Amino acid sequence: MSIPKHVAIIMDGNGRWARKRGLPRSMGHKQGVQAVRETVRVAGEAGVKYLTLFAFSSENWGRPEDEVRDLLGLLKIFIRRDLADLHRENVRVRVVGARDNLDPDILSLLAEAEERTRDNSALELIIAFNYGGRNEIARAVRRIAERVASGDLDPRTIGEETITRNLDTADIPDPDLIIRTSGEQRLSNFLLWQAAYSEFVFVSCLWPDFDRKAFHEALAQYGGRERRFGAVEPRGVAIGSA
Ligand code: FPP
Repeated sequence: MSIPKHVAIIMDGNGRWARKRGLPRSMGHKQGVQAVRETVRVAGEAGVKYLTLFAFSSENWGRPEDEVRDLLGLLKIFIRRDLADLHRENVRVRVVGARDNLDPDILSLLAEAEERTRDNSALELIIAFNYGGRNEIARAVRRIAERVASGDLDPRTIGEETITRNLDTADIPDPDLIIRTSGEQRLSNFLLWQAAYSEFVFVSCLWPDFDRKAFHEALAQYGGRERRFGAVEPRGVAIGSA
């Protein structure tokens, strides 16, 4: 079975998981972190090389203040508690998303996680934090425009590659498979540019219930797909990523 090199996941349904049990939403997010741990483990074992998790979107700031505080707190706890384990497991941690207007303590934790694990090579765990696809593209365009304005870049040479290279994901291959849990079927501003040829698997279980079995089922669905990248033959001219 072909294993996707890069799996990206929209972890949805924490709130509903909690509500079904009469628990506060924060408990759903807390249980969601357990699912994150299991998912990282299974991804590594399955041979996935890049795993991107949508942890906090640029739109999530609009949630009630205490929920935002819970989500940021869980991310900090995850980095503090799990960084040593991730490092031991040879996992490289990276963060994509806007870095402006973030608390200095979060910024330094994220920077420490990236710095400490930068030479690891078993799996890249990419945490999309304060991330929005349109915002990422806008920031890339701004960088490109600045280089044009300073005379560093000839606008006639701007192509798709120029955009790709200026995104937060510059040296990360496009996701082969995007999974969204909880039965919702939308992209919600996640990896807009990068998802051009991704396969989508929508699973009905809520994120805290996403376990080894659910992950393997999603991988099996991917394995049965025929990817053509806009070409005719299944393994003909593969335009874009492999
Ligand atoms: C969606 O559920 C989930 C989120 C907005 C955040 C996901 C965050 C975590 C799993 C924890 C922190 C992440 C890491 C990497 C440690 P929802 O609240 O939108 O659920 P609902 O749609 O049922 O209300």
